[in-house]
Amino acid sequence: MNEIAKIFETLEYGPAPEGAQPALDWLAAHGGRFGHFIDGKWTAPGEAFASTNPANGKVLAELSGGTAADVDKAVKAARAAFKGWAALSGFERGKYLYAIAREVQKHSRLFAVLESLDNGKPIRESRDVDIPLVARHFYHHAGWAQLRDREFPGLVPYGVCGQIIPWNFPLLMLSWKIAPALAAGNTVILKPAEFTSLTALLFAEICGRIGLPKGVVNIVTGEGETGEAIVNHPDIDKIAFTGSTEVGKAIRAATAGSGKGLSLELGGKSPYIVFEDADLDSAIEGLVDAIWFNQGQVCCAGSRLLVQESIEERFLAKLKKRMATLRVGDPLDKAVDIGALVAPVQVARVTELVKKGVAEGGTLYEPDIDVPGSGCFLRPMLISDVSPANTVATEEIFGPVLVEMSFRTPDEAVALANNTRYGLAATLWSENINLALDIAPRLKAGVVWINGTNQFDAAVGFGGYRESGFGREGGREGMAVYLKPAWEKALKPAGGQSPVDKLRTKPKTAAATSSHGESVEPRGRARNPLDTADRLDQTAKMYIGGKQARPDSGYSRLVHGRDGVLGEVGEGNRKDIRNAVEAARAALGWGTTAAHNRAQILYFLAENLEYRRKEFAERIRAQSGVTAAAAENEVAQTVERLFAFAAWADKYDGAVHNPPARAIAAAMVEPLGVLGIVAPPELPLLGSVALLAPAIAMGNTVVLIPSEPHPLSMTDFYQVLETSDVPSGVVNIVTGDAASLARTLAEHDGVDGLWCCATAEISAMVEKASVGNLKQTWTSRGLAFDLADTERFGGDYFLAKATQVKNVWIPYGA
Ligand code: NAI
Repeated sequence: MNEIAKIFETLEYGPAPEGAQPALDWLAAHGGRFGHFIDGKWTAPGEAFASTNPANGKVLAELSGGTAADVDKAVKAARAAFKGWAALSGFERGKYLYAIAREVQKHSRLFAVLESLDNGKPIRESRDVDIPLVARHFYHHAGWAQLRDREFPGLVPYGVCGQIIPWNFPLLMLSWKIAPALAAGNTVILKPAEFTSLTALLFAEICGRIGLPKGVVNIVTGEGETGEAIVNHPDIDKIAFTGSTEVGKAIRAATAGSGKGLSLELGGKSPYIVFEDADLDSAIEGLVDAIWFNQGQVCCAGSRLLVQESIEERFLAKLKKRMATLRVGDPLDKAVDIGALVAPVQVARVTELVKKGVAEGGTLYEPDIDVPGSGCFLRPMLISDVSPANTVATEEIFGPVLVEMSFRTPDEAVALANNTRYGLAATLWSENINLALDIAPRLKAGVVWINGTNQFDAAVGFGGYRESGFGREGGREGMAVYLKPAWEKALKPAGGQSPVDKLRTKPKTAAATSSHGESVEPRGRARNPLDTADRLDQTAKMYIGGKQARPDSGYSRLVHGRDGVLGEVGEGNRKDIRNAVEAARAALGWGTTAAHNRAQILYFLAENLEYRRKEFAERIRAQSGVTAAAAENEVAQTVERLFAFAAWADKYDGAVHNPPARAIAAAMVEPLGVLGIVAPPELPLLGSVALLAPAIAMGNTVVLIPSEPHPLSMTDFYQVLETSDVPSGVVNIVTGDAASLARTLAEHDGVDGLWCCATAEISAMVEKASVGNLKQTWTSRGLAFDLADTERFGGDYFLAKATQVKNVWIPYGA
């Protein structure tokens, strides 16, 4: 049989290698050694480390390990460039981004080959997915640069951004970071991952060639220490990180209290759900993309297969058959499905986790297919018979390993899918549109793909819930994380007198200083409890789960006002917070009640408060000593704020994106979940309601710590809550020492977000203590936020912070 007849007979693939020479020539043109790209120039190479080809272990180039001094130099260059770059018109900035996109397209083959050599990913992916998406990202953001002023009025760039990226999609992650930062008007220092810096260096050269002003993009190579130097540099305004959850948490802790903006895109353990009515062949092909794309080194990899029990056997048989046809080998071979993992350390890590999974009861299947004898190659793997507690079902493996479990009912599928600390992505397959659209909103993930998987587009935000991080990349939300209100950038420390102090008619005689820096009377705990035995108990109760609650400690604290003691409130402790969080979690159904209903309840709250405005004004006056007019004004403003957020409740909603794919992406605005709120000491009523109203308007449930010195307005307010049909558990009020209650809220894993008006020190403490479940925080950092300012706080400032966007990809069109 001649060769051609043989090929027809066997249908075996022959070798189809892409040439490596242009990439090797480019490396050689740089002498195989690179310094950093700072201020538009290459620095002399410093202490070197090697970048190797994981497919064969050969050294590709020597790179420089960035020192703190290198980082400082890059920050200075970026700072110097910022003013000029930010002052350019959107059109001018857009032209640069467009030029970058054009150059990436022009040199796409070089980029793709270099990426595959350096990272080990199949050329088919770098050529057809990574690099085209990079170009798309720069094109899309050229447009955002142009539209910034029109679409984001009043917002300005942060300034200098430090960006740290991982090795799984080296150039793509660079584009996700640099394109929005530049479009918004920031300048950047980017550190590529130590395993995969080469395409970032080629990108730097392109920036030089298109004449990008020097210092706008700086690339500093190096390992974790270089990343740390960026994170800790005092003159960086914002950090954006993609990588492991572990390092993400370290960065959260390191930036706490610094005032730096932060966005984190971290790990995942994303479910891939197959219902019994799915198109099984499509679901199998989807699965190949979900878990073996990029050797499974994908943050949103569909690594947890959940199959309905009725089709489990059939599906797994099909899957095993498909796995046996996958081709593992030379990344530069165009007919290869699975290339090399990025480095020996990752092969060892994956192998170790697989061993653990098997030792814990999993059954491993590996197809009998050829794998190159050397290099970082692994076969595709499937582990079934896995319990939800098995390490491989909970830990991100970041390799070509699929873990399988079955479920019986849709509810069980949702429960299993959400049984993870992560929340990056989820995939579901069903031919039943009702089922698919019922399940998608119930999945706790930033991206949900229906009957498809691993779809990305620059116009569609990408990012996680829970420990998968916060902030979005792509689309409008992605631009928003690189911008902030001009007024916020200009805020001064609160210092001096608060707005209430200024209005006070009589100085206080109090002794102690509260955590807010305001004067309060000593705490009740210091007193002999017997002292109050003969008094009528006037302790205002806390409010938990729709009921008045006595403090667990049994202690209370005195509330002093204009004319002496006004009453007592409970001294809340950890247990009270725990109860309140439990009640708030039980009330999370509030998030799925119709926005119209939430609006009605907010209007009703406003109306009922209005009826009692005199009484509330008098209470404000009695506590803080402001004039009668100021107290009445505070109540009137509170009523108005409730009206404002009633108005917003059914209007701050999502969008439908049209990515260049046969799908639409429905950007759903969802509440964070349980929100802890620590109100400012001033403005006893408005200070709390200004935060509470946007939170509940968006469907969050709340644990509120009212003003520490003046808590009685909010303990009165629960009577208004009760008469306004607010469901039990939606608003819970715990009184006491604001700082210690804030810490407990920050440390509680049942709290999804935390807003805290407090001093710089307490704000830093809260941010640091929130690391555990990476809750989203907003703190006032001792700055002069004036919540009475309707212009600033009556709109999307807090609405955006009360919500996160989930993008649901839905197949659509021909
Ligand atoms: P990593 O999180 O350590 O590395 C990501 C980037 O952070 C790299 O540029 C690295 O140099 C930098 N970095 C490391 N330590 C730092 C620090 N203390 N401060 C600032 N920057 C720092 O990820 P690694 O070690 O390469 O991979 C370990 C595991 O992390 C993987 O097996 C995988 O499970 C997970 N991972 C997840 C990614 C995702 O996108 N979800 C991406 C990369 C890794």
